[in-house]
Amino acid sequence: MTDQQILTRTDRLIIRRFTTSDLSDFLAYQADPVVRRFIPGEPMSQRQAASYLAVQAALDEHAVNAWHAYAVEHAGEQRVIGDVGIWLAEEPPRTGDVGFQFHPGFHGQGYAREAMHAFLPHVFETMDVETVTATCDTPNTASWGLMKRLGMRMVRQSPEQTQFALTHQEFDGATGR
Ligand SMILES: CC(C)(COP(=O)(O)OP(=O)(O)OC[C@H]1O[C@@H](n2cnc3c(N)ncnc32)[C@H](O)[C@@H]1OP(=O)(O)O)[C@@H](O)C(=O)NCCC(=O)NCCS
Repeated sequence: MTDQQILTRTDRLIIRRFTTSDLSDFLAYQADPVVRRFIPGEPMSQRQAASYLAVQAALDEHAVNAWHAYAVEHAGEQRVIGDVGIWLAEEPPRTGDVGFQFHPGFHGQGYAREAMHAFLPHVFETMDVETVTATCDTPNTASWGLMKRLGMRMVRQSPEQTQFALTHQEFDGATGR
């Protein structure tokens, strides 16, 4: 793993670019029914997942109208336990819609919060995003509980969907950066 592939580290995690060697770790969670419950569409086949990881490994970090996913590696176990990502929209002011998914064996231990808290400064500072948004199904309480825990502001809620937003300024204010 080169330094260029690592976005940031936390006490327990390494947030980094995917590599094609992450396939078995990725397959171990991305098709899990617990993970898929609120994610639309079908899980990827092994072949689709391999090509997805190859695209992510080579993607220009500033490419717009593109989904950018990053591996969350458990430093102690040296395996990928989930991913965080952002859809980079084109029009100014630059907005990005974030998402996350973690292996069910690692839920409820603060890993998603820790990963997103480390990922957001990278999004604001290196990817030049001004406002981050996140949308999930309202019954997906784990997802919007996480958004609240990250200090995101609820902007819209219906029985079906809940949307949050966070500006660079709000994030810096909340974290004393
Ligand atoms: C959403 C998800 C990433 C949360 O991951 P996680 O590692 O379990 O979350 P954390 O342990 O870091 O929890 C962070 C905060 O989220 C909230 N949260 C997490 N799980 C929760 C649950 N089951 N119910 C309610 N709130 C929950 C809590 O506020 C928690 O903060 P706290 O521990 O201080 O109370 C995980 O449940 C997941 O992968 N779900 C499937 C994929 C998915 O639905 N992704 C979102 C699509 S929009």
